[in-house]
Amino acid sequence: GPPARFAAMTKAKSFSKLPGFRDFPPEELAFRSHIFDAWRRVSRRYGFLEYDGPPLESLDLYVEKSGAEIVEQLYNFTDKGGREVSLRPEMTPSLARILAARSRSLPKPIRWFTVPQLFRYERQQRGRLREHFQWNADVVGEAGVWADAEVVALAIDALRELGLEAHDFRARVSDRSLLSAILMEAGVTEDQLPGAYAAVDKLEREGADRVAGRLTDRLGLTAETAAAVLDVFASRELGGVVDRYGHRPAVMERVDALREFVGALEAMGLGEFVEVDLTIVRGLAYYTGIVFELFDRKGEFRAICGGGRYDRLLELVGGDALPAVGFGMGDVVLGELLRERGLAPDYRRVVDTFVVVIGGEQRSVALEIAHRLRDSGEAVLYALRDASVRKQFQASGTEGARRVIVLGPDEVARGVAVERDMATGTEREVALEELT
Ligand code: HAM
Repeated sequence: GPPARFAAMTKAKSFSKLPGFRDFPPEELAFRSHIFDAWRRVSRRYGFLEYDGPPLESLDLYVEKSGAEIVEQLYNFTDKGGREVSLRPEMTPSLARILAARSRSLPKPIRWFTVPQLFRYERQQRGRLREHFQWNADVVGEAGVWADAEVVALAIDALRELGLEAHDFRARVSDRSLLSAILMEAGVTEDQLPGAYAAVDKLEREGADRVAGRLTDRLGLTAETAAAVLDVFASRELGGVVDRYGHRPAVMERVDALREFVGALEAMGLGEFVEVDLTIVRGLAYYTGIVFELFDRKGEFRAICGGGRYDRLLELVGGDALPAVGFGMGDVVLGELLRERGLAPDYRRVVDTFVVVIGGEQRSVALEIAHRLRDSGEAVLYALRDASVRKQFQASGTEGARRVIVLGPDEVARGVAVERDMATGTEREVALEELT
């Protein structure tokens, strides 16, 4: 412990981390890196370039652009220069801001990805923390369904890359422009659309009765219109929509586009991962076209990933009117699912060589050899204080070294060392020259 006089001077105070925040000791960080590495590998396979932005932005960027739910959760404050600022709760507004300034000079479509840490003041619940890392991949400058299919395939492939299969998860896809066409056919006005989306978004969690209440009491729909809305979502599939609205070109145009989008994923061989589900509408305000969420099959966890098309956002932040589509995939729910499926990798430090020093005079030889090995790219450890050979061998075992090199005085005098292969236990003499 610390010397007594320090203990007397400072009153011991213990600190714990804030609720909803995580520490990453090495084994946790290794798991996180395992996920990040998969995200980055798959992003590159799709030709995406990595970017980043600042963790702090002006508050304005999120107010109105993201929608009420996220704005309530902002970590915002006034900085010392009197600016209203917020930690980033999501990346999409920053991407729109960054591209507003430079999209003109970039070849289209732009394929960018990033893995930012995001901050939302969430209520405590499983799968939701107050910080998380979120892989974002977006295609900007292409309005067609092949771009939509590209990002959904990318999200699916990342989960496959981590060892998850079609029986583990699925992508539930819908289209907000189809929803708006249907809702307006059912009697919802354009002004009421955002409220209707927000209500339908709650269908799975709250059930039809409570959502009907939201539609009539909060949104002011007639009981008849509310019933017509809920009727559409009763089946979740396109069949019911076609039966009811097959004669409406505005609806059928969107149905065809959604089918083309799903068809592209089927052509890639990813059909078994995809399911049309009209109850997927997404909480964020800026989506204009296809929307999707990835869930575990059993429905035990919250969404692993969410995204969609947002063709108006770049204009809203002062850029060129560029169509865009993308998603965010968090590390929290995904980590829980991987752990549950036994897909978290074993954490092991890789140590190539442990150098055992016998007798103090050998230390400078040990330092020289160890350092030369490190220069050549090996991971090398040795005891940082004089210790018995037994203790040093123990340490090499604890650290999981692949081989041990013993530098005894007699061997060093002859220009050799003893090398032990820790897997087989075999020992041999090697020339010090040969070692490095
Ligand atoms: P989002 O649905 O808010 O979308 O978040 C995407 C994913 O991030 C969620 O499915 C979830 O896995 C994870 N996530 C969100 N909040 C938390 C939290 N508090 N704790 C743990 N994980 C969380 C967006 O943020 C959009 N900006 C995505 C996007 C990109 N759309 C287009 N491009």
